Amino acid sequence: MPSFKSFLLAITAVAPGAFASPVPGANSTSVVDAAPQWYSGPWYNFPSMGTWRSFDELYNIHSPYMAMTGSTWGDIEKIRASCLNIGAQYGVDPRIILAMIMQESHGYVGVRTTYSWEGIPTAGLMQCWGCQGYPGRVNLSQQEIDNMVRGGVEHYKGNLRNWGDAMTESCVYPAMREYNSGNVNPNDLSDGRGATPGYVSDVAQRLQGWAD
Ligand SMILES: *[C@@H]1O[C@H](CO)[C@@H](O)[C@H](O)[C@H]1NC(C)=O
Ligand SMILES: *[C@@H]1O[C@H](CO)[C@@H](O)[C@H](O)[C@H]1NC(C)=O
Repeated sequence: MPSFKSFLLAITAVAPGAFASPVPGANSTSVVDAAPQWYSGPWYNFPSMGTWRSFDELYNIHSPYMAMTGSTWGDIEKIRASCLNIGAQYGVDPRIILAMIMQESHGYVGVRTTYSWEGIPTAGLMQCWGCQGYPGRVNLSQQEIDNMVRGGVEHYKGNLRNWGDAMTESCVYPAMREYNSGNVNPNDLSDGRGATPGYVSDVAQRLQGWAD
């Protein structure tokens, strides 16, 4: 997570493309440098869904960054299909799935798996607890990529249910906080509660087209 100092440096030296320091991150430790904006406070302080780019635009913006991780274009096309198909199955906007994949793993299909002391994995494209991962591998099958995406979407769907289960700003943003931290301070969605403070703020900006 960005230190307060690097956050200040980033906001005082705003230049396009100057924020990138991509390290595929785990759920509670996703590592990204600060995005151009810092949103905080309750859900209504976060960008309206009307400011999000279309799915196709977001795919075109983010997919070259996925390719930099080592995922092949075959993998990346399958990620696209997974976002659309699994999003439709669970009633989750595929743009959210794509942006959370960028936040969690930068779309690296061979992203690391970490284990809790009990041996439970945090794994896969969406770096979720108890999910499937394929560390170090690329050229995965559609089924393998679906496994990772479905695991993350199931977690997120569970989080959404705690916040009204609708595709509205009042649900999707608090559910992202819960996905990352396990619990939510509704008065400040950038209160990381031990996880990544800027998680929701960063995902919101990825949805608007910020990429790293
Ligand atoms: C992935 O598949 C492509 C196309 O078949 C192949 O050229 C490449 O060597 C494969 N990469 C790995 C790491 O298996
Ligand atoms: C992320 O970590 C938190 C805190 O450890 C946990 O409660 C939550 O379930 C995790 N989320 C996912 C998607 O694994």
